[in-house]
Amino acid sequence: MNTQVIISFEEVSKRFGPIEALRKVSFQVCRGDVFGYLGPNGAGKTTTIRIILGLLIPNEGKATVLGNDSTNLLLNTKKEIGTVLETDGLYPDLSAEENLTFYGRVYSIQDISLRIKEVLDFVGLYNRRKDPVKKYSRGMKRRLAIARAMMVRPSILIFDEPTTGLDPEQQGHIQQMIKKVATEENVTIFLSSHNLNEVQEVCDKIGIVNNGRLLVTGGIDELAKVDRKLQVRFAFPSHDNLSRAEKILLRLGYSTIKVEQQEISVQLSDEAEIHSIVKKFIDNNVHVTEIRKQYPSIEDLYFKYVTRGGKGG
Ligand SMILES: Nc1ncnc2c1ncn2[C@@H]1O[C@H](COP(=O)(O)OP(=O)(O)O)[C@@H](O)[C@H]1O
Ligand SMILES: [Mg+2]
Repeated sequence: MNTQVIISFEEVSKRFGPIEALRKVSFQVCRGDVFGYLGPNGAGKTTTIRIILGLLIPNEGKATVLGNDSTNLLLNTKKEIGTVLETDGLYPDLSAEENLTFYGRVYSIQDISLRIKEVLDFVGLYNRRKDPVKKYSRGMKRRLAIARAMMVRPSILIFDEPTTGLDPEQQGHIQQMIKKVATEENVTIFLSSHNLNEVQEVCDKIGIVNNGRLLVTGGIDELAKVDRKLQVRFAFPSHDNLSRAEKILLRLGYSTIKVEQQEISVQLSDEAEIHSIVKKFIDNNVHVTEIRKQYPSIEDLYFKYVTRGGKGG
């Protein structure tokens, strides 16, 4: 397992006058991580990203990117980082192709036109490359911003709330795209979001930030296991099947049963229990249409930490 540290924060604090935007924040993002930096508005996400990029200097602590102090990033390091920030920074009167050509020249990218084709294909905008960007929808602009970030063939991609302001369909597109970049292009990703579902969908590690404090970090699966047991959801074709199933589960001694419409979810202590439950269902002629191991949600965890870390910490 490769655990090269790509981004590291050690007790980083940042103040804006009386506002403590970050308070002793420490975390590490390793090569290949898709790290979700999750927190509500005003938590300190953009401030963190601006520090990573060397656009802000911490008051205390140290931030490094690829081993270099972020306050003094070399051009070679900067070229390893692609960014998709809140403001797209695209030129509205220029076409996608022209925007990327301009960007490619600034960064002295080799084979600009070849790379433009690759990245526009990747985000599905190659056919629209000649259209001025002002004619693009928000989702298309965001896709173009991703294409631009990929131009440099970065090893790190940083997204600041990549789907904010998009409709659900466009959000889904962007999320799939980010997952695809992570796997196919083998980049390390740092993604900030206030959207739990997004982070769960896209990321494998998270940090929860609130009020300038990083409250918890870890792998999504391990974090979810901290407080929660395995949940399994059974779906039934009819109410009759469902109510018989519920009786069976009660008889088997399951007390934490949640019934919703055509589904029952049960908390188990072991995966092997699924087998014995299903066997009981079959023995009693209860039909099941679906069995889902529920991905433990980090939602509870999020609210727990965000509420606890709330007022003034
Ligand atoms: N340039 C700035 N000047 C003053 N206050 C700032 C500045 N940038 C951010 N802040 C404050 O710092 C806190 C964190 O902001 P930010 O990092 O933008 O949060 P997020 O991106 O999580 O919404 C907020 O209270 C915000 O108002
Ligand atoms: Mg922000």
